[in-house]
Amino acid sequence: MGVRWDSALFLVLVLVVSFAEMSNGGRTSTFVRNDDLSLDMPLDSDVFKVPPGYNAPQQVHITQGDYEANSVIVSWVTPDEPGPRTLLYWAENSELKNRADGVVVKYKYFNYTSGYIHHCTIKDLEFDTKYYYDVGTGKATRQFWFITPPKSGPDVPYTFGLIGDLGQTHDSNRTLTHYELNPIKGQTLLFVGDLSYADDYPFHDNVRWDTWGRFIERNAAYQPWIWTAGNHELDFAPQFGEPIPFKPYLHRYHVPYTASGSTSPLWYSIKRASAYIIVMSSYSAFGKYTPQYKWLEQELPKVNRTETPWLIVLMHCPMYNSYAHHYMEGETMRVMYEAWFVEYKVDVVFAGHVHAYERSERVSNIAYNVVNGLCTPIGDQSAPIYITIGDGGNLEGLVTEMTEPQPSYSAFREASFGHGLLDIKNRTRAYFSWHRNQDGYAVEADTVLLINRYWSSLEESKATT
Ligand SMILES: [Fe+2]
Repeated sequence: MGVRWDSALFLVLVLVVSFAEMSNGGRTSTFVRNDDLSLDMPLDSDVFKVPPGYNAPQQVHITQGDYEANSVIVSWVTPDEPGPRTLLYWAENSELKNRADGVVVKYKYFNYTSGYIHHCTIKDLEFDTKYYYDVGTGKATRQFWFITPPKSGPDVPYTFGLIGDLGQTHDSNRTLTHYELNPIKGQTLLFVGDLSYADDYPFHDNVRWDTWGRFIERNAAYQPWIWTAGNHELDFAPQFGEPIPFKPYLHRYHVPYTASGSTSPLWYSIKRASAYIIVMSSYSAFGKYTPQYKWLEQELPKVNRTETPWLIVLMHCPMYNSYAHHYMEGETMRVMYEAWFVEYKVDVVFAGHVHAYERSERVSNIAYNVVNGLCTPIGDQSAPIYITIGDGGNLEGLVTEMTEPQPSYSAFREASFGHGLLDIKNRTRAYFSWHRNQDGYAVEADTVLLINRYWSSLEESKATT
């Protein structure tokens, strides 16, 4: 009897395992780590060093300054007095130095007063050119450089880095270092929200916005970081007199939103090389008739895939996420916008928020009409791939708890810190790789060859490089 029960139990187990395998579309990495918290780097850490000299510019960072990528916004902070609102810039092979004018803003947040925050737009740049720029005066002048992208075109190769939820811990520093030292060089960073995590400190200690600005300067002063707002940018704290959402973020990080007809810096779009990048705001109104909805409704039909074949959407909260943490938080956004993403054949949607990595299959879940019961994601070759890359390494730590079994929409998931690279080769092919911080710089922990949705209906799984 006992033997028969054991056999029956074994048979049941086999069936359960087989069923789990059958219903399991993807792979959960065997690379399992503890969800121990990562500590912020101390204030006297080298990465936060204040540059020497009276009123020396600090927290220098750049972003694209217009729709077409002929402009760059340079931002910096002077601590003691406003100083000059201008900067000098020149092309690498030119003697002629030009001056660009900017604005200076300042804000108070609870008992904190910011330094003088400069935003200066350099316009009418040549494509594919290296420029140097000087900020500050006298002995405190600091020099940086950047390279403009090639003019937009269908087969222009270009490499984007992907980082989200970075914070300022030792792990954050590892993530940025790995991005910098990856032999595949990212030329522009797509940042999917949650920057400094200053709001995790008492009264949202805005000093941590300053330290974060100094931490990222080593990369963000030399290549554009394309900004997406996350929930940690809200800084909404009416309990101590700060009821205006996004106040520190919007003072510190300017984006070229008016150039794409947007009415808010929280959602906008840019063209860069062969990519069209749409930035959305998970924490602004996005229901029907809202400004964000109306803007996106106009925006998607504008995208010319012959000029910019790669249609990329950035948002903070993922629409497809199989971790227990933040599970289904992106559902309202999915209900509103997924059908458009399928209709306009978005290639890839990058999000953060979940402190882990996940890549979806090409799936959609748009058939449901309240009464028909069709509410399961299905394979859809017009749908984007959804990639969650909220694994920058902030002080809240990794999320390791996953929904089980792994849903069929989830192709690969792993709770490790890291960064991503989207290496666009031409109008049909782009190579995405995910790099975890524990590996050597060149190691790819997950990869996918993306086949452009507008230019080819070929399935990725059937493609060869
Ligand atoms: Fe978040």
